[in-house]
Amino acid sequence: MREKLEQAREQALQGIVGIDSLAALEEIRVRYLGRKGVVTEILRGLGQVAPEDRPAVGQAANEVKAAVTAALDARKAELEQREAALRAQKNRLDLSLPGRRPRLGHMHPIPRVAEEILGIFRDMGFQVATGPDVETEYYNFDSLNTPADHPARDSHDTFFVKPGVVLRTQTSPVQMRVMEKTQPPVAIVAPGRVYRVDYDASHSPMFFQIEGLLVDKGVSLADLKGALMHFVHRFFGPKTQLRFRPHFFPFTEPSAEIDISCTVCGGAGCRVCKFSGWLEILGCGMVHPEVFRYAGYDYETYTGFAFGLGIDRIAMLKHAISSIGHLYENDLRFLEQF
Ligand code: DAH
Repeated sequence: MREKLEQAREQALQGIVGIDSLAALEEIRVRYLGRKGVVTEILRGLGQVAPEDRPAVGQAANEVKAAVTAALDARKAELEQREAALRAQKNRLDLSLPGRRPRLGHMHPIPRVAEEILGIFRDMGFQVATGPDVETEYYNFDSLNTPADHPARDSHDTFFVKPGVVLRTQTSPVQMRVMEKTQPPVAIVAPGRVYRVDYDASHSPMFFQIEGLLVDKGVSLADLKGALMHFVHRFFGPKTQLRFRPHFFPFTEPSAEIDISCTVCGGAGCRVCKFSGWLEILGCGMVHPEVFRYAGYDYETYTGFAFGLGIDRIAMLKHAISSIGHLYENDLRFLEQF
């Protein structure tokens, strides 16, 4: 029996030396000292030992138990220490690493360009006004001298919400909403979303416009030209050339579109300006007397000018953006360039 105990001690101690994990160590403890462990089994046989030998054998067994337990505890402490050291190394703080800066957001190109444009008109004394995106046909069309059978309605590819109610196709209805509530002089710029059934590289079903309106006594075409030339020179640079090209809008008479010398080639001709040297940037004109009639203004006393521009288009020209889609895809690789 003593021999068996000795053998168990030898084997247990040898086994413990090679153990590499806490789980395996626990297995050894169970194998030798557990309820069905080797040492326990041996002690169960104590009854067969001659009574006078029992104390000695019992003592020997206790010694083996103590020795194995001590070896287990020692190895356990070693393993725990090693694990702690590994963990510490993994979580080590490297104080020489440069800090991580919080990522800062910044303005999207559309509101940025909008702010810049509005700022130029604010400096000229214009105030910012807004109106609803869901608009009545009356404000979007009729009151702007565009009756139901007017061919100009076709070109707008309108989204209808329900009969008589549309998603506004232009910011021009803000003109009428402001005039209804305010007596001249009026000088406003109105930024906002507009909607049209249209989708390709240069059209998005939702895009942004800024409307302008100035009404007072004695406002002339020269004022229109002066204000818009000032805007173009401040926004695109003082060397930019302008061209007023006669056009038609139902709510202005006379009407024009303004072209500027191409921002990419300077007028020599390139793909962006389709080799014409010119880029169209806005529509404008002198407010039609019929519009004043709808607004309740005396068109014998007052005159005014109005204009409308596409913010997306101007942002694309300013930053040489090839597709309007880039402005709405929220791709950080694109947005972080601004
Ligand atoms: N609303 C026009 C459009 O979306 C743009 C426009 C042209 C607005 C002439 C005006 C204007 O106020 O006078 O095409």
